[in-house]
Amino acid sequence: MNRFRRLRANKQIRRLVRETHLNKSDLIYPLFVIEGENIKNPVASMPGVYQYSIDKLDEILDEVEKSNIPGILIFGIPTHKDELATSAYDDNGITQRAIKYIKKNYPELLVIADVCLCEYTSHGHCGVVCGEKILNDETLPLLSKMAVSLAKSGADIIAPSDMMDGRVKVIRSSLDENGFIDTPVLSYSAKFASAYYSPFRDAAESAPSFGDRKTYQMDSANGLEALREIEDDISEGADMVMVKPALAYLDIIRAARDRFDLPIVAYNVSGEYSMVKAAAQLNWIDEKKIVMENLIAIKRAGADVIITYHALDAAKWLEEDE
Ligand code: PBG
Ligand code: ZN
Repeated sequence: MNRFRRLRANKQIRRLVRETHLNKSDLIYPLFVIEGENIKNPVASMPGVYQYSIDKLDEILDEVEKSNIPGILIFGIPTHKDELATSAYDDNGITQRAIKYIKKNYPELLVIADVCLCEYTSHGHCGVVCGEKILNDETLPLLSKMAVSLAKSGADIIAPSDMMDGRVKVIRSSLDENGFIDTPVLSYSAKFASAYYSPFRDAAESAPSFGDRKTYQMDSANGLEALREIEDDISEGADMVMVKPALAYLDIIRAARDRFDLPIVAYNVSGEYSMVKAAAQLNWIDEKKIVMENLIAIKRAGADVIITYHALDAAKWLEEDE
């Protein structure tokens, strides 16, 4: 008989033989910034998550800084939306102004800028629309302009999440041509068309006004295709790649970890967060234990970095448990 229980006998020996560790340095906190003043709007479907106007950002940024996680992923919510997402690449747009504010006042915080048009288009799609079609090649120059504008504002990392083909390559070369040779690209490479994004679309006010995102985001049944997407983004110049969502796609994270040697990022998305929060509010689960188990699962699957709305709570809980 093998006595596996010998190494489980008490807290210290369990600690000694633990294979996977979650660290504060693994975590990134997503942040929603909205135009206007004196705004701290709760997002109904995401308890604990708010939209902030720039003048109210200090409250949350102080908390982020105190938590000692490396940084944030920023999403801007503009007032003006149009067919071509012009606010997305306006150097004075909401996201650009927010990044400038953050880098000026919190220079140590890493600011990752999501690059996608859906928060800025009147139709809510991630690309240029013609009739019911989302055009690929016509979208690429707009994404490039947005990436350069965000880098100019001070973004430390550029993270395209649109799922147009070929966008990493054009974004990389536009960044280089504009002098941002040192700005890394974190590509949302394997981004699935997922029902887990719906609370985010409340938070970012970015739901599509017609149809869905299935012609550009991936089919949830496709694991091999996810690896082809990741491989292609690496060949186009991505410095880091992402799998999104996380918990229903742990097999993809593992396969990516086994096959590729650059940092793998997992996005523990809004719906994953909201389900935990809802069950916790009903006292059906223990929130802290569930969150820590989920985050460890994502790391064990092979993620190096986890973007999560639980980041600030998790950082606090890690501190308590040390
Ligand atoms: C923008 C974007 C989305 C998310 C991150 N960037 C939404 C979408 O693709 O509809 C989802 C994040 C989340 O659900 O937490 N394209
Ligand atoms: Zn989008």
